[in-house]
Amino acid sequence: MKLENTIALVTGANQGLGKCYAEELLRLGAAKVYACGLTLESLDPLCEAHGARIVPLKLDVTVRDDVSAAVSAAGDVTVLLNNAGILEHKGLVEAGSSEAFRREMAVNVFGLADMSLAFAPVIAGNGGGAIINMLSAASLANFPPFGSYCATKAAAMSITHCLRYELKTQGIEVFGIYAGLIDTDMLKSIRGEKSDPEDIAAAALKGVEAGIMDIDTDARAKWLRATLVEDPESLEALQHERADDFYKTQSM
Ligand SMILES: NC(=O)c1ccc[n+]([C@@H]2O[C@H](COP(=O)([O-])OP(=O)(O)OC[C@H]3O[C@@H](n4cnc5c(N)ncnc54)[C@H](OP(=O)(O)O)[C@@H]3O)[C@@H](O)[C@H]2O)c1
Repeated sequence: MKLENTIALVTGANQGLGKCYAEELLRLGAAKVYACGLTLESLDPLCEAHGARIVPLKLDVTVRDDVSAAVSAAGDVTVLLNNAGILEHKGLVEAGSSEAFRREMAVNVFGLADMSLAFAPVIAGNGGGAIINMLSAASLANFPPFGSYCATKAAAMSITHCLRYELKTQGIEVFGIYAGLIDTDMLKSIRGEKSDPEDIAAAALKGVEAGIMDIDTDARAKWLRATLVEDPESLEALQHERADDFYKTQSM
């Protein structure tokens, strides 16, 4: 679908990849972008840089009243970009508590699902459009240093594929975006080769415009998807080896 003249809403748009998505949507000719942040002040730099085409909204995707208020404030939306996400802790056993896992589920899974279900009637009522979900290479396989996070991203992928079927009769296309490590605050304490968030946002929205439903935006995501098909047996050993190496050399 063409993004020119669309009216988009981006969650977690105050920084990182979400800010790049908002700016790339403007570059592609979106008429308006509702940029959402946990606070309105966090959106000031984006608003100051881009003027009236950016409309700031306060939105915590885990708060029902915030989601309802966003629907009321942004009734002209045709593209929802579920970008907000958190990465809280290491593996499930090591954390010793499920509280951090529940927080990750609340944002990465239920937040994404609640926003999608709340905005689907809005998008359908405006003649159709798209829901774009920021998933991860971690949706495709579990990398133990990020065990619970990967589980949330796998669930988010499954929801994406479910909504793709359920919403198609309403004229809503549902896209999934996959990437490996991206150079944002989320991974600031993690070493490794990281992609530029501007490149990821550009590749993702180029894929949307080309009608690719599951979009691998960088080399790591492409490699992982190919390996799952061509050499799945080798993957688990590699995952464990990388996790061992991670615990020896890095900390979160
Ligand atoms: N970084 C990576 O390597 C990587 C790789 C693949 C996929 N991703 C995914 O890409 C997306 C963006 O991540 P990022 O790398 O840009 O991370 P980031 O810089 O930490 O940004 C995350 C964004 O989500 C917002 N957010 C957190 N909790 C929220 C909530 N409850 N409701 C609404 N917004 C909330 C944050 O707001 P505050 O700034 O106010 O905290 C921030 O704007 C996430 O879904 C992430 O899982 C990241």
